[in-house]
Amino acid sequence: MNPVDWNARCIELLSQRRERALLRERHPVHVIDATHVEIGGKRFINFSSNDYLGYTHHPQIIRATIEAAQSHGVGSGAAGLITGFTDQHARCEAAIARWKGTESAVLLPSGYQANLAAVQTAAALGGEGNSGVRFLIDKLAHASLIDAARATEMPIRIFPHNNLTKLARLLKDADPNQLQVVLTESIFSMDGDAADLASIAELKKSYRFMLILDEAHGSGVYGSSGAGYAAEVGLQNIVDVSIVTLSKAIGCIGGAACSSAPFRDALLNFGRAYIYSTSVPPFVAASVAAAIQAMLSEPQRQQRVRELARHVRQSLTRVGIKIPPGDSPIIPILFDSEQAALNAANQLRSQGLLVVAVRPPTVPAGTSRLRVTLSCMHSDEEIARLLQAVEKVAKK
Ligand SMILES: Cc1ncc(COP(=O)(O)O)c(C=O)c1O
Repeated sequence: MNPVDWNARCIELLSQRRERALLRERHPVHVIDATHVEIGGKRFINFSSNDYLGYTHHPQIIRATIEAAQSHGVGSGAAGLITGFTDQHARCEAAIARWKGTESAVLLPSGYQANLAAVQTAAALGGEGNSGVRFLIDKLAHASLIDAARATEMPIRIFPHNNLTKLARLLKDADPNQLQVVLTESIFSMDGDAADLASIAELKKSYRFMLILDEAHGSGVYGSSGAGYAAEVGLQNIVDVSIVTLSKAIGCIGGAACSSAPFRDALLNFGRAYIYSTSVPPFVAASVAAAIQAMLSEPQRQQRVRELARHVRQSLTRVGIKIPPGDSPIIPILFDSEQAALNAANQLRSQGLLVVAVRPPTVPAGTSRLRVTLSCMHSDEEIARLLQAVEKVAKK
């Protein structure tokens, strides 16, 4: 069909997706608290949110957010380089940098934009025409890293997931005058497994490269005070740019690129995703700073979500359900087909359990899955209900 008739073309494309059980749709969700929602008047336990620490509904954080909205208004009014970088933003960036143990941090409106800005900045380092940069990306790295690298029009090589032998080969054969930039996640968003940071650290001994590590799902859940997975394994020093999304364990919205001061200053000059976008409202900055403060004084939230992750993983494995390796609160349960994953999600829904089916292109073909995410706020009884129901729908 001719795409000039765009509405008809939309309908055609969408019906093709529906036939292949790949159509994405959304439904208004009424949020009750960190782990409960209502959809169409029916109550569900939410096992599909990234609110690992329950900070979306933390009384102190809410109080700090309201106070900042009252004192600073509900919008920042401009991009950071104009007048949108307020005292609240400055305090928040300093708090993020202290928490992550980096020299500096830049606050952006989303994690997606934080990845975009960091990659744009790395690309700019290649000089006029940027011919001197190549991106080496883990196959399962988040779409925002892949989109960002592609948009730079710099050369890209994808290495198989966590295959550091292949990465070593790429680094070994690299042009010594070309900056090599490795893009990967610490805790992978769809598989819940971890990057092999110890092996990447070994590679750093032999090869010069920049590591941009997306800690979207490591932050808050790993490391002392939630500083992230690199902190947990004692390898913060090998990370050149650490990306935090403030929308997951932090419970709010936004992202941060944490780095050296020179990289921060380069990002402010070359990171178009920062430069050309209005900064987050000051109350978001205040909310994030309050969440970091809460993390420092509430290690029990991190401990509980980690314990729940261990318990659920062990229980599923014990009854013969295969799950990828790892110890994170992201637990994928794989199915043979898109339709099978959707059917399983619907069966869980009928029992009041919300576990979304993730299908291609978000995950590779043939790996459709239920993606269970846990929060410290799930009760033991709710976890027991989940385990019982998943055992019935999962293939063994
Ligand atoms: C690994 C990873 N990176 C980046 C992002 C983007 O973060 P945000 O939702 O804050 O834009 C996400 C969220 O989906 C993610 O899972």
